[in-house]
Amino acid sequence: MSAPLIAPLIEAAGLSVAYRGEDGAPPLQALRAVSIAAEAGEVVGIVGESGCGKSTLAAALIGLLPGNAVVTAGTVRFRGTDFLALPEAGRRGLRGRHIAMAFQDPMTAFSPVLTIGTQLTDFQHHLAGQGRAARRARAGAMLARVGIADAARVLDHYPHELSGGMRQRAAIAAALLMTPEVLIADEPTTALDVTMEAQIIHLLRELRRDYHGAIIVVTHHLGVVGELCDRVHVLYAGEVVETALVDDLYHRPAHPYTRALIACDPAGLTGVTRPLPTIPGRVPELAPPPPGCAFAPRCTLATARCHIEAPPWVAVGPGQGARCHEARPRGCDPGGTDPKGADANGAIR
Ligand SMILES: Nc1ncnc2c1ncn2[C@@H]1O[C@H](COP(=O)(O)OP(=O)(O)OP(=O)(O)O)[C@@H](O)[C@H]1O
Ligand SMILES: [Mg+2]
Repeated sequence: MSAPLIAPLIEAAGLSVAYRGEDGAPPLQALRAVSIAAEAGEVVGIVGESGCGKSTLAAALIGLLPGNAVVTAGTVRFRGTDFLALPEAGRRGLRGRHIAMAFQDPMTAFSPVLTIGTQLTDFQHHLAGQGRAARRARAGAMLARVGIADAARVLDHYPHELSGGMRQRAAIAAALLMTPEVLIADEPTTALDVTMEAQIIHLLRELRRDYHGAIIVVTHHLGVVGELCDRVHVLYAGEVVETALVDDLYHRPAHPYTRALIACDPAGLTGVTRPLPTIPGRVPELAPPPPGCAFAPRCTLATARCHIEAPPWVAVGPGQGARCHEARPRGCDPGGTDPKGADANGAIR
């Protein structure tokens, strides 16, 4: 089958991932028919409460799902190539060089027993023809680029000698040293204080300006989304429940879950970062997921149908769609009447 003429740089289509249950327990369906895509030059946000499947999606996109995860449906394509169907050696070839991830916990990016300089030098093994000294110099320059003062000295430090903010920056530097076409940043500001968080956001904004690849930012923080992203996918209980351009998401949210997130957190509109607010109730169990709409038990608009019948994907406007029985195309809105641009899986181009 031939790839579409202009394939997105990276794309998950109808992706379902389950974690095997232990001791005969049913599998936990962490992702259900998730479709997202990112083009070169675009920053795509993945937002949702804890446990909604954000890190599972990030791991699937880079082909690093844990051993107990099973892809039960769908594909991940990088430049049209089915990434998950490649043998591990092929995936390794793409990973790092073409797709790199700054991990949620920056400690996992680094070995505790080697200095930052040694590791950042080793990460550049793909740069044929460059000696160690040149790679180390490049590592130092990248640390300076991500705002680490005294980078030459930091190269000699071990990971535990760095502050949380510095480790987070070093993890981003590590990912960037691979010169990837797709950079995935999983919760790049979690566990940072407000000042550090602002600095990392500033760094990502600069990257956004200078970097021509795709950036996928996974976050709890609506403010991070507003500051950085072009397009946003809202995940709830392993499903994309809304996809929208960032402006539409804030000003014309179509899914009650998105509206609840924003209503609780008007600061998201101003770009002031803060964690997602608490919505009454909790994310449902995913082993197995509930029938009907997973958000129905917490939704103020839910009708009897919502609890039994899975909602369809509704294209509400250009580039915007929501998985909700109550969502309607913005038919009377002169600013956005054309529901084209969203396919049945919710992949919006
Ligand atoms: N290795 C694993 N084995 C079994 N279940 C897992 C594993 N990793 C995640 N899960 C489960 O899969 C679901 C999705 O988890 P995931 O870590 O992807 O969510 P998340 O949105 O990244 O959450 P957070 O915001 O807390 O990082 C959760 O129910 C979680 O408990
Ligand atoms: Mg996570």
